[in-house]
Formats: sequence, C-alpha cells, structure tokens
Amino acid sequence: MKKLLAILMILALACGCAFAEEAADEEDAISSVTLKPITQLPEVETQDNGILVVYFSPDDTTRAAAYVIASGLNAGLFEIVPEELYTEEDLDYMDSFSRSMQEMRSKDARPAIAALPEDLSKYDTILLGYPIWGGQAPKIMLTFVESADLSGKTVVPFCTSNSSEFGSSDKDLKKAAGDSVTWKKGGRIKKGASAEEIARWVQEELLAPEE
Ligand SMILES: Cc1cc2nc3c(=O)[nH]c(=O)nc-3n(C[C@H](O)[C@H](O)[C@H](O)COP(=O)(O)O)c2cc1C
Repeated sequence: MKKLLAILMILALACGCAFAEEAADEEDAISSVTLKPITQLPEVETQDNGILVVYFSPDDTTRAAAYVIASGLNAGLFEIVPEELYTEEDLDYMDSFSRSMQEMRSKDARPAIAALPEDLSKYDTILLGYPIWGGQAPKIMLTFVESADLSGKTVVPFCTSNSSEFGSSDKDLKKAAGDSVTWKKGGRIKKGASAEEIARWVQEELLAPEE
C-alpha cells in the first residue's frame, strides 16, 4: 500500500495530477521519495505477465508515467540510464551547442547505456517510454533498440513532451528495430493526466489491437 502511495505521489509531483491533494499531508514522504535517485525509489516488482516498461527520463516526467503504467499493468520496469548522466546544462534545449542538442543533430550519435536488461526472454511486450527531444526520440533510445534483443517482441512506444504530439518521433526506432519486431502505434501522455486516466488509456488505446 505504501509502495502504491509513493508511486502515486511521484506522478502527482511530475504531472500535477489529482493525487496531489490526497498526498498533501504526506509532504515529508514525498520529498524523501522524489529527491532520491531511481535506485532508491520504491520498486515495481517484475511480474510474470510478459510486459516490461522500459524508459529513459533524465528529468523525471517519463519516469513518473512509467511507474504508473508498470504498476497499473503489473509489469516489470527498467530504466535506461546513460553511462554519462545528463546535467542541467546538457538538457538546455535553448542552447544549440548543449550536449542534447548536439546529439539530436548528429545522425550517428549513440550515447552509451550503463546496463541493458539482463533477461528479456520472459517478455513478449515492451512499452518503450521517452521524452520528446526536438520532435524526436532521444538518440539513446536508438542505442537501446540497436543493442537489446527485441526480435519476436511487440514494442509499444510512448512519450512525454511539453507540447509536441507523438508524431513520427519513433520513426528511426522502428526502422532500427527491423522486421523481426512488431512495432505498434505509439502515443503521448498528456500533462495533468491522473494515474487512473493513464492506466485506462494504456489498456484501452495504447495496448488495444490495431484495426
Ligand atoms: C533537449 C530537449 C529537447 C526538447 N524538445 C521538445 C520538443 O521538441 N517538444 C516538446 O514538446 N518538448 C520538448 N522538450 C521537453 C520534454 O519533452 C518534456 O519536458 C519531457 O516531458 C521531459 O521528460 P523527462 O522529464 O522524462 O526527461 C525537450 C526537452 C529537452 C531536454
């Protein structure tokens, strides 16, 4: 129960959702949760239901969404952690020479990932979450798709952004994944969505069979 509350509190902070009010009297717990690095956040246990939520989130928004999705689906959770973490300066998209902006301009940029998931064989479906950078998925997502063995799996991408829609942000990822991967139509998590809305949207739309 504590674990679930902590997850909901993370989402409330990141998305400004309806849980914020309920969590208001738990301020100490919130700050102790949100200020800790991912390794100390409450774990979402990997369940044997064949779904893994893999996400990259240098600034926490996608992480919060991934936690809600994974807990709603009883899925496993894996964070793509860069070998070299992104600093605030690295993420400055107003500076065209910042690390993130330089990476997005470079066709060949493949930022290294600290570790890949140990065993993907028990998962049939990978939900792949990322923030939109310049209308695209960050290049580290290409590193992941090119290095993890996704053959035979279904990949369902999702993103968070300030205002951009999902668009064709997964085009390069889909191409890199190749024909052995069933690539589904992705979607964007709207800012302000509640945990319940996100979980429902994932079940009813993101994971719905395509017509
Ligand atoms: C380098 C960079 C480029 C970005 N480009 C866009 C963009 O093109 N469109 C947009 O709506 N938001 C853009 N954003 C904002 C992020 O997509 C948004 O804040 C996202 O939710 C951050 O996710 P995170 O907290 O998991 O890192 C950009 C952010 C960064 C750091």
